Amino acid sequence: FHVEWDVETAEKDGFDHFMLKEIYEQPRAYRETISNRINHQLNTVDLSQEINLTEDYIKSIDKIHIVACGTAYHAGLVGKYVIEQLTRIPVEVDVASEYRYRNPIITPNTLVMVISQSGETADTLAALRESQRNGAKVLAITNVNGSSVSREADEVLLTHAGPEIAVASTKAYTSQLVAIYLFGLYLSQVRETHEDAAIAKYIQAIKELPAQAEKLLEFAPIIKQFAERFAKHEDLFFIGRSLDFAVSLEGSLKLKEISYIHSEAYPAGELKHGTLALITDGIPVIALATQEDIYEKMVSNIIEVKARNAYVLGIALEGDTELAKSVDEVITIPKTLPLLTPALSVIPLQLLAYYAALARGNDVDKPRNLAKSVTVE
Ligand code: G6P
Repeated sequence: FHVEWDVETAEKDGFDHFMLKEIYEQPRAYRETISNRINHQLNTVDLSQEINLTEDYIKSIDKIHIVACGTAYHAGLVGKYVIEQLTRIPVEVDVASEYRYRNPIITPNTLVMVISQSGETADTLAALRESQRNGAKVLAITNVNGSSVSREADEVLLTHAGPEIAVASTKAYTSQLVAIYLFGLYLSQVRETHEDAAIAKYIQAIKELPAQAEKLLEFAPIIKQFAERFAKHEDLFFIGRSLDFAVSLEGSLKLKEISYIHSEAYPAGELKHGTLALITDGIPVIALATQEDIYEKMVSNIIEVKARNAYVLGIALEGDTELAKSVDEVITIPKTLPLLTPALSVIPLQLLAYYAALARGNDVDKPRNLAKSVTVE
């Protein structure tokens, strides 16, 4: 009797690829990133055991720079919306390889946040050092305790996603979002920008995310069917507004990284200023419409692409019966607060990329030309 197995197969835990396994680990990654950071009696975030920022310092922050690469940069784009809404502190987001060379305006009241799954990305590390040289405090959000970024940053907020093996990042991104939510709420509490009841509402909604993510994963077979249809195309568009645009960028990156399908993510309202010229008969468009405040405007943008005969897959909130009238297919995500939707809406996009890459016969976990961690500038 002979059993064929190797370490890699064992580590994949019954999944065909690390990427799929990691997509399915997201509910657990959420739970672990949230755990021990919430005071369940007071319904507040408590990061005081991990982060040594004094109340005076937190109150003195007058701007935040978020710096990162790749998927972590996309988490930073969500972070801008989240932190600005929760704290009203102005936030700028930069790709690390650009930040260093643009002579950014850094003062002692600038908090620089670097985000890095590995904590070893050379561009991010260089930006961290440059920020410290200019007198800023650096807070790192990283998944690897003991990494260069975690050792050199002034403060560290760990994501607890567990090891991520697939080159295309999934659970690290969503855990970074959770860390950003918690940090944004923490700043808001200290700076007293929201009522206790509003904070409590966020905490409650964050606690529901793991179970909601689990529910969303049950749609995988439906998403696989869409992906197989899209996989035949060479060009595809993702559109969305505000947070949905930030998530579109990540959905587009995932697809490019592993399926090699060319895709563009566009702020839906900007399409008419040029890109609409590329919307032709049958082109797939994935339209995210989860943001209530700009929902009507988003639907108008969808009607614009439908008028050019695009094939539109809409991503909407559960209970939305309107969107189906303007698109070809709809996937719904469980209802949560508007700022938290990225933690759910990205999951169908990760699955789309995965199944499209699979349909094209690509090496999902090790895409061509890419490395998990880039330690050269
Ligand atoms: C590489 C990977 C990307 C990743 C980026 C940043 O380019 O291929 O998936 O998003 O590095 O990595 P980090 O470890 O800093 O988050």
